[in-house]
Amino acid sequence: MSEKKPFYITTPIYYPSAKLHIGNTYTTVAADAIARFKRLQGYDVFFLTGSDEHGQKIQRIAEKEGVTPKQYVDKIVAGIKDLWKMMNISYDKFIRTTDDYHVETVQKIFKQLYDQGDIYKGSYEGWYCTPCESFWTETQLQDGKCPDCGRPVEKTKEEAYFFKMSKYADKLIKYIEDHPHFIQPESRKNEMLNNFLRPGLQDLCISRTSFNWGIPVTFDEKHVIYVWIDALSNYITALGYGGSNDEDFKKYWPCDVHLVGKDIIRFHTIYWPIMLMALGLELPKQVFGHGWLLVDGGKMSKSKGNVVDPVLLVNHFGTDPVRYYLLHEIPFGADGLFNNEIFIKKINSDLANDLGNLVSRTVAMIEKYFDGVIQAPTAKEELDNELIDLAIGLPGKLDADIKDLKIPEALDHIWDVIKRANKYIDETTPWVLAKDASKKERLGTVLYNLVESLRIVSVVLSAFLPDTSEKINAQLNVEASSWESIASFDGTRAGTKVNKGEVIFPRIDVDKAIDELNKLKEEQMKKAAGAEAPKAKPIKPEVTIEDFEKLDFRIVKVLECEPVKKSNKLLKLKVDLGGEERQVVSGISKFYKPEELIGKSVILVANLKPVKLRGELSQGMILCASDDADSKLFAATIEGELPTGSIVR
Ligand code: MSP
Repeated sequence: MSEKKPFYITTPIYYPSAKLHIGNTYTTVAADAIARFKRLQGYDVFFLTGSDEHGQKIQRIAEKEGVTPKQYVDKIVAGIKDLWKMMNISYDKFIRTTDDYHVETVQKIFKQLYDQGDIYKGSYEGWYCTPCESFWTETQLQDGKCPDCGRPVEKTKEEAYFFKMSKYADKLIKYIEDHPHFIQPESRKNEMLNNFLRPGLQDLCISRTSFNWGIPVTFDEKHVIYVWIDALSNYITALGYGGSNDEDFKKYWPCDVHLVGKDIIRFHTIYWPIMLMALGLELPKQVFGHGWLLVDGGKMSKSKGNVVDPVLLVNHFGTDPVRYYLLHEIPFGADGLFNNEIFIKKINSDLANDLGNLVSRTVAMIEKYFDGVIQAPTAKEELDNELIDLAIGLPGKLDADIKDLKIPEALDHIWDVIKRANKYIDETTPWVLAKDASKKERLGTVLYNLVESLRIVSVVLSAFLPDTSEKINAQLNVEASSWESIASFDGTRAGTKVNKGEVIFPRIDVDKAIDELNKLKEEQMKKAAGAEAPKAKPIKPEVTIEDFEKLDFRIVKVLECEPVKKSNKLLKLKVDLGGEERQVVSGISKFYKPEELIGKSVILVANLKPVKLRGELSQGMILCASDDADSKLFAATIEGELPTGSIVR
């Protein structure tokens, strides 16, 4: 047997900064349909997806939640994997950029590019927000202020490493011109050439020193590798490139298709190819930039409250209706709309009426007229040819559609057969044939033709709607389901008994379903708001100002900090109180590593009677805030700089 041809397809790796929405689901479902289709055709497919886990944003969210970045991403990534299970995503590998092998190879890549002179150290100029410890570019600022906290920012320079993009620009322009299918759709190719490459490429800043949740630069540890070198490398590290076993890399690289949203096409068609050129590797065969999934009112955003949650839809309507909508209703390559009403109407018309009815009617008639046994097609007529030709022509059409990544068109071609089969029932009127005993053979043939058409439909549907395909196969008792078996119109074995099952797609009352969806969404939003705004504890009894003034709060700077021996709660801090040093023991080791506190200015209750905790003297108490469940805790600080020992009141 000849060896299977490899086919490598990827989705972007997702930021675990929030739950994934229907837009992210779109890319992955599309990639899944292509991967399944190629597997069906006999390719040796490698389908990669994953998560892009580093960066300041993740570090911030984790800090806010009072957990480590790794704890935070572990939780979100588990949710992403659950979603892919729910959507029936058949990925072969899920890469996490926190995986050891990825981290090591990215470090090697960075070092190699530095050693060969493609990376140099320079400085990155931006606007710095001191309280947030963040750099912002001019365009990220809001009214000239920090977009996160709204406070003033200062123009500052940060030492950073840069990639010499400009060195490879001409080579890349030539490559793009010589390979017309490299960037698809065509309009995106022109955009990249005319807006970015031809006007001249800027070197790319690829390291940061202002946060540390990233892959450290091995030879300059205060730098972490900044997003794109880390993220894009996933496509080769996942195959073992640079590791001890690179067999998959040798087999699957270069990638057949990187499927990405239009917002990140620039990174995939400019920075990524240049990185690969610098590493002396082949470029991917194609980068396809699909459009944006919009909702009524434009882009989905948490603040507009219009984010569509795929989990809610799947729980309510099942996986395949959602897959069908994403694959069929959004022109692949252009923007498309997600709308509840259109979604439900499509389930009713295309899935329940066209496909579901065809299956139910065919199986019911075989049950009724032949005790459920499929007859041999011994009485063919001219009238059958149109349906048979359409069904046999399907694999060829789909092969061409999927080669061009025309997914909605592929489903249109499948539905052409489904619709033709429904028309065939109207034309042949089996219920009339059933009344005439001399037409028994003809009736058997008509039903055979329907079953065989449905079998072919079901085989190809396994790429797009895998659950539905299985349900059809179960009802028809299909034995032959390979790609080869649909090359001719004879894969159904006469004598097979059909199994009448449940209706595959029950019809939905549109208004009722929309009402239900709106209610569910409201409940979900209320729940989320409730989780974000915990109820405050009752306020303690009043005190007078004289009572309050008995307490002495001071600004202190943490000089040293270490865990208290034999305690997993306590940290021992040495603090500077403005000329005087104090030792304080604080029960915060679950929330802070000692090195995170050293150098920090915090607030000390300075006249609290000293006590001994685990044998260590504690001369005061550090003020902290925590949530009800004590799952998050932060030390109180002041905004801005004041000398140590300053009074807080
Ligand atoms: N982590 C980067 C990708 C690195 S790949 C080496 C990233 N992640 S993301 O989670 O923000 O986005 C992942 C994908 O989801 C992108 O392709 C993006 O275009 C896509 N989408 C996000 N919102 C979308 C819609 N509303 N509609 C369609 N796709 C959308 O970018």
